[in-house]
Amino acid sequence: MLTYDRGPPRRPLLSPRWFTDPTAHAVEQDALARHLPWRYAGLVGDGIDGDDIAACGDFLFRRQMPDAPSLADWLGPFTGDLLARSPALDSPVARDAVEFAANWKILVENTLDDFHGASVHPQTIHPAVDADWRQHLTTQRAGPHSRSSWKLADDTAAWWGKLLARGALRRFADQDRYEHVFIFPDLYVASFYGTMVIVHRVVPLAVDRSRLEWRTFLPGAASGDAKAASFRRGLVAMLSASARQVIEEDRPLCEQVQVARAAATGPGILGWREQRIGDVHAALAQLLETE
Ligand SMILES: [Fe+2]
Repeated sequence: MLTYDRGPPRRPLLSPRWFTDPTAHAVEQDALARHLPWRYAGLVGDGIDGDDIAACGDFLFRRQMPDAPSLADWLGPFTGDLLARSPALDSPVARDAVEFAANWKILVENTLDDFHGASVHPQTIHPAVDADWRQHLTTQRAGPHSRSSWKLADDTAAWWGKLLARGALRRFADQDRYEHVFIFPDLYVASFYGTMVIVHRVVPLAVDRSRLEWRTFLPGAASGDAKAASFRRGLVAMLSASARQVIEEDRPLCEQVQVARAAATGPGILGWREQRIGDVHAALAQLLETE
């Protein structure tokens, strides 16, 4: 639980040109390809291999620098998060993508903001978490990576509990929480009630255009009977439609921020609950310094 006895640190934020200028975008993408030790490459089963690929569970990363630290050192405390979620990845049920007319960092900022549910998804995600979400929210940060964990509302947890039984779902953890694990710069893994896992990747297409790709995993018990399998199919259709609806709520907001960013008169100020965003800016600023 945060206390507000002291103000948040002033974080240096990247200037707007890194969001709007095609030349700056090319410099940034080159820096991410040459000076970032490890970059998410895909999942086991995607046909990705090579001497420069290492695995953390079923998550594959490409080594981009010869003197990179070990993958476990790069991922730090979130190594355990990826390992824990990996067993769920044997159960892919859907994949989807949406293009945004916005810089990729705006999609990242949007998803890392702890006020995100309350402000961007007031009718969809926000009611699914505990009304007293500030009290129960825990955030862990390590370098550019981070995790926020929200307690689900009691009725949402009860709903998942019923789905678990009827769909014979497996859980990677016994938790009544929504968790969001971010691995810099472009991977985030959302999980619900310790069962459903959605792996997201933010793909830059141009300075002002990005594609958000996501893959949904709903682990079912190996011995699930035909009734449970049929229930799961209906559930997957419903959950896939909801996932897309939620992303379609993000898109117009990110696109407005893209337009407004160019008109900003100065850097923003991040509150205590927005420090995950500051971590990303700090990591990028450090990479870009070498250019
Ligand atoms: Fe969102």
